[in-house]
Amino acid sequence: MTDHTGWGILATGRIARSFARDLREVADARLVAVGSRTAGSAEAFVAEYGAPGCRAHASYDGLVADPAVDVVYVASPHALHLEHARLALEAGKHVLCEKPLTLNIAEAEEMVRLARRHDRFLMEAMWMACHPVIRGIRDGLAEGRFGRPRQVHADLGFVVEAPPGSRIVELGLGAGALLDMGIYPLTFADLMLGPAEELRATAGLSNDAFDEDIAIAGRYADGAVAALTASMTSVSPRTATIATDRGLVELPVGFHHPPHAVWTPADGEPETLSGVEPLLGTGLGNEAAEVQRCLRAGLRESPLVPHEQTLRILRQMDDLRRQIGVAYSADPASHDATG
Ligand SMILES: NC(=O)c1ccc[n+]([C@@H]2O[C@H](COP(=O)([O-])OP(=O)(O)OC[C@H]3O[C@@H](n4cnc5c(N)ncnc54)[C@H](OP(=O)(O)O)[C@@H]3O)[C@@H](O)[C@H]2O)c1
Repeated sequence: MTDHTGWGILATGRIARSFARDLREVADARLVAVGSRTAGSAEAFVAEYGAPGCRAHASYDGLVADPAVDVVYVASPHALHLEHARLALEAGKHVLCEKPLTLNIAEAEEMVRLARRHDRFLMEAMWMACHPVIRGIRDGLAEGRFGRPRQVHADLGFVVEAPPGSRIVELGLGAGALLDMGIYPLTFADLMLGPAEELRATAGLSNDAFDEDIAIAGRYADGAVAALTASMTSVSPRTATIATDRGLVELPVGFHHPPHAVWTPADGEPETLSGVEPLLGTGLGNEAAEVQRCLRAGLRESPLVPHEQTLRILRQMDDLRRQIGVAYSADPASHDATG
């Protein structure tokens, strides 16, 4: 039994670096091992971010077999999440897996089954749901502090300039705006309005048949509605608003990890909303702290990112992809179509 949580990072790409930086801000967190497909990448990552004694593994198998690792953070492309989470769970490790949990609902259900079978903690790395400002707004809405929510607008996007073969433009690795960015507006609406009753989408597709720009219209409980967008081709707003019968909550650029939000009642002055707890790094630290809190409490899923919520959003994304005509080879329907 140690007094810290030993983290192992699987893959050394862009988000793995951001996560490792934030992990330094988290009490009782220690980066004890890194796994990469290549020894050089693992060693360079350890030299930059590792705690003293942190080990570099030249394979993901080596990482998950490391006895110092309590939790594996899976930071590979979406299409490989199930394979890599399976490695970790079968080796007896807890798992924090990057978003989207998998490419489709069938894979996600399989990952949740594996976690249950091995009695390990599993959470999708939906850091937005662990963010102190987002949590404060959600709590405020639940308490009726802002009135009755009627409309959510949320957008995430940027101009993607990635070389061919990069995960974000490679259909085989799960390319597309919905899974990469649209998952945030979609999850935001779910957090603020509850499960969608109806979702309709339209999209602009690339030559390789993945969604570059997508617009989603949603209907929620009590007749509330949402307009949600994501873009790989534009300098999009990256903001969100929640309009209620009493006023407006505004989240600034980078709405999924906002420094603050502003509540303006129809009959009053704007009020700045800060978070329910201090921000740890960019907010990825709060996600890691939530994992550690759950592990200390003996939980196998987080109340902030419960499996059912992750699975619900994946079901929604499967349905939205059917509507816009985007399919991955991992989709059951693709296998049917190809026999
Ligand atoms: N939470 C967030 O804000 C956030 C932001 C960005 C991305 N993400 C998610 O995190 C995941 C990784 O995104 P990223 O932007 O970090 O991707 P990335 O920069 O392309 O890195 C992915 C890493 O995965 C490993 N990998 C294993 N097999 C691979 C393959 N066949 N092709 C390419 N890479 C492979 C590589 O690490 P090694 O070479 O070391 O093995 C690579 O560096 C995605 O699922 C994405 O949706 C989350």
